[in-house]
Order: sequence, then structure tokens, then C-alpha cells
Amino acid sequence: MDRIGVLTSGADAPGMNAAIRSVVRSGIYEGVEMVGIKYGFKGLFNDNLEIMDASSVGSIIQRGGTILQAYTCDEIHTDAGQEKAIKNLQKQGIDSLVVIGGKEALAVAAALQKKNFPCMGVPATIDNDIPGVTEAVGFDTGLNTIIDYIDRIRDTASSHEKSSIIEVMGKDTGNLALWSGLAGGAENILVPEKKEDLETIVNQIKEGPSRDKRYSIIIVAEGSGVSGIDLNKKLKEEAGIESRVTVLGHTQRGGAPTARDRVLASRLGAHAVELLLAEKSGRVVGLENHTPVSYAFDDIFSKTAQIDEGMYELSGRLSI
Ligand code: F6P
Repeated sequence: MDRIGVLTSGADAPGMNAAIRSVVRSGIYEGVEMVGIKYGFKGLFNDNLEIMDASSVGSIIQRGGTILQAYTCDEIHTDAGQEKAIKNLQKQGIDSLVVIGGKEALAVAAALQKKNFPCMGVPATIDNDIPGVTEAVGFDTGLNTIIDYIDRIRDTASSHEKSSIIEVMGKDTGNLALWSGLAGGAENILVPEKKEDLETIVNQIKEGPSRDKRYSIIIVAEGSGVSGIDLNKKLKEEAGIESRVTVLGHTQRGGAPTARDRVLASRLGAHAVELLLAEKSGRVVGLENHTPVSYAFDDIFSKTAQIDEGMYELSGRLSI
């Protein structure tokens, strides 16, 4: 490998910069020229490329977002777009690519690999919804941001003895909701993977005072089928329960990455380059038992992301 390209695509995630830094410096350390592609896959169509030296990734390990920008791009999802992208990469002398991003970005990397262009994927998304990957870069930071808000909301909810609904991100998966709900001591956690009816929530809130529980924290995943605002309305209209609702939105994606995400990003970025240089492309990197591992793209996309059933049950047991 003489020239490796690196890009971030899709939604940004805290720790992407730490991953870029690791990819760039790992390549340079091995004597490879590293090229940053700006604006995700879109940058491949308008030659938005720059050679990255070791100093170009200085002082970014602590920054949220991504210095390479994280765009979505329709053209790259077509056959013609992928062929054009590969031609442009080859024209620039780039012989392999590290893609940092979520499911969609990794699917594009898999498609380019199928067309014989060597690619590696570094999973990065606060949703933590990449099948088979234990932890994606950004999840821990997103989670800790949510916990910070839950704790703040609990202070005021407990003072006013009013229930609070907190809507969190996660697309069509409930990992962020489940983990933050368990860590934040929520009474109810609504996730897309499970059905929880209004009646159960209402009964729990109504029975609360008999156990000296005067307010509830309810976490609603954005993909759970009911929004926080609608749940708030229903509780009021159908059960006369007054609550407050907070939609955390994009606050969950911003902010400095946690130490855990910085370490994860550094390890995964380095492992991606290591595998590319060993001519083992076509894989997504991860950590298992604190050890770097990798999975073939096909393995990832033949599965669907799951929530941890045991954790879900536990959250119910602990919220009595
Ligand atoms: O994938 C990360 C994520 O923040 C999801 O949790 C959310 O559904 C989506 O991106 C929001 O995307 P956008 O910023 O385009 O509204």
C-alpha cells in the first residue's frame, strides 16, 4: 500500500477525530502516504482530498465532530457512483480506503470492496447499532451525555415530584435508551424492540406513592413508535398524569469524546491500518475482551442489531 485514504461518512460521532488521528499516524508510522477525503464519499466526486501529515491531526483527539466533515451522498449508493469513486481514487494513486462511520457508511465500504477496491471499516455511531460489533466509537460519549441530562432532570423532577419523559436518539434501535435508562435508574424504558403499553406506565406511576415513589423517569427511544411529546399528551389526556418532556436531540452527538471512546477509536483506527497493510481488507474492526478483532463485511450485514435482553429484564426488576 502506498497511499491510504480516510474519510468519515453519515452522522458524526464523538471520537471520529481520535480515529482519524490514529489511522493517519499509524499509516505514516509505517511509511505510507495518508490522504484525507473531505465531505465523506461526496469528496471523492469532486477531488476534495488533502495529504495529511502527522501534525495535521495534532490537537484533535479531544474534539467532538469530525475535521473531515461527515456528509451523506446519494450517488455513492449507485453502481455507477461506486465505479466512478473507485476510478477517482485510483486516479489519485489511492490504493485502499478506511471508512469511519455507521451502518450506511460501512455498507458503502463493503460495496467498494466487492468491486475489488480494498476497504476497512471503523464503526462509529452513537446508536451502537452495527450487528455483531460490541461497541462503536461514540456510543460511550453519547451515553454519558444522556446520563448527565437524566441526573439533572432527576434533581428537578424529585423536587417538584413530577414525572419526566426523556426522548433519546438511536434510530430504529434501543441501545442508547436501554443503557442510559439502566444507568440513569429510569422507571420505564421504551425501545423499538419491545412493546410497553401505556397502561403499564400509568399503573406504575399511580402506584408509585404507595412505595414512596413520587415521580418517574421515563426514557423513550426515538424509534419506539411513540414520541416523548405524544407520550406526554397521552399520559395527560388518558390518565390525568402531568409530566414534563425533554427531547435531547443533537446534544447527544456533540461534545468531547470520553476517555473510553478516545482509547477505542485509537485502537480501532490502528488495527484497521494494520490489517490493510497485511492485505486483509474487507473487514470491520472491533474489540472483544479488550483485544482488537475484525469481522468480514458479509458477517456484519447478514445479522441485525439486538438489544441485550438480560439488561432489559434487569432494568424492569430494578425499577420496582
Ligand atoms: O445515527 C446517529 C443519529 O444521531 C441517530 O440517532 C438519529 O436518528 C440520526 O442520526 C439523526 O440524524 P440527523 O442529524 O440527520 O437528523
